[in-house]
Amino acid sequence: MKKITIRDIQKFKGDATPFATITAYDYISARNADAVDIPLLLVGDSAAMVVYGMDTTIPISMEELIFLVRAVCRGSKKALIVADMPFMSYQASVEDAVRNAGRFIKEGGAGAIKLEGGSCYGDQIKAIINAGIPVVGHIGLLPQSYHLTSGYRIKGKTNIEANKILDDAMAVQDSGAFAVVLEGVPSNLAKKITNTVSVPTIGIGASKYCDGQVLVTDDMLGLNDLSPKFVKKYSNLKKIIEKSVKNYVNDVRLRKFPSYKNIYL
Ligand code: KIV
Repeated sequence: MKKITIRDIQKFKGDATPFATITAYDYISARNADAVDIPLLLVGDSAAMVVYGMDTTIPISMEELIFLVRAVCRGSKKALIVADMPFMSYQASVEDAVRNAGRFIKEGGAGAIKLEGGSCYGDQIKAIINAGIPVVGHIGLLPQSYHLTSGYRIKGKTNIEANKILDDAMAVQDSGAFAVVLEGVPSNLAKKITNTVSVPTIGIGASKYCDGQVLVTDDMLGLNDLSPKFVKKYSNLKKIIEKSVKNYVNDVRLRKFPSYKNIYL
């Protein structure tokens, strides 16, 4: 079974083949994703909200993410596993960035890391790559800057913002990132960036004009009530789970479960 490499991901752009990516936080989901040949799995810091119930992605720690990265790596034998650098694991210094990125590879088993931010983190991106670790950039709407941006807002609607995001895309590419996530940007800007950079763009809330797409698995499977405009719900697992658990509870109350089929004689 061949493991997907960063070269395979970059080839998608060369071949003009759009590719789908999802987040994964546990062993079973990673196995399921492998079964349908998802090439890249992101252990996102969105785990802060969907796994740990935090209000934003800001509080999650390296330790809390490393446990999830390990589980995902056990489940996926094919996908390239990208671990998300949590808030304050790389911002303060290049040394922090290299050390923490290294932990995801060495302790977690990931094949690459992702970090939020553009030109201002060029030194961090270069140093991480110099240590032998592939990097995915993340520009546009930056969830870790929630307080600075007064919430989650689409970025790049004004010319000034759009030019800044395009500059960020170029800077991240020039620093050596092998792909870049574009989050929450208008479609014309996504198109321009995708046509300008030579590395694959992976969009979330950034239109079809990206080389790939990423969704938070819990959102696309309908596991929670949240449904931002950019999410397409491919299932309504919340309803299915609630109904299943309710049926189980009723069966137990009515002594329908366990039945003779479920017991040992
Ligand atoms: O943490 C995450 O899941 C992400 C994606 C939304 C790109 O960064």
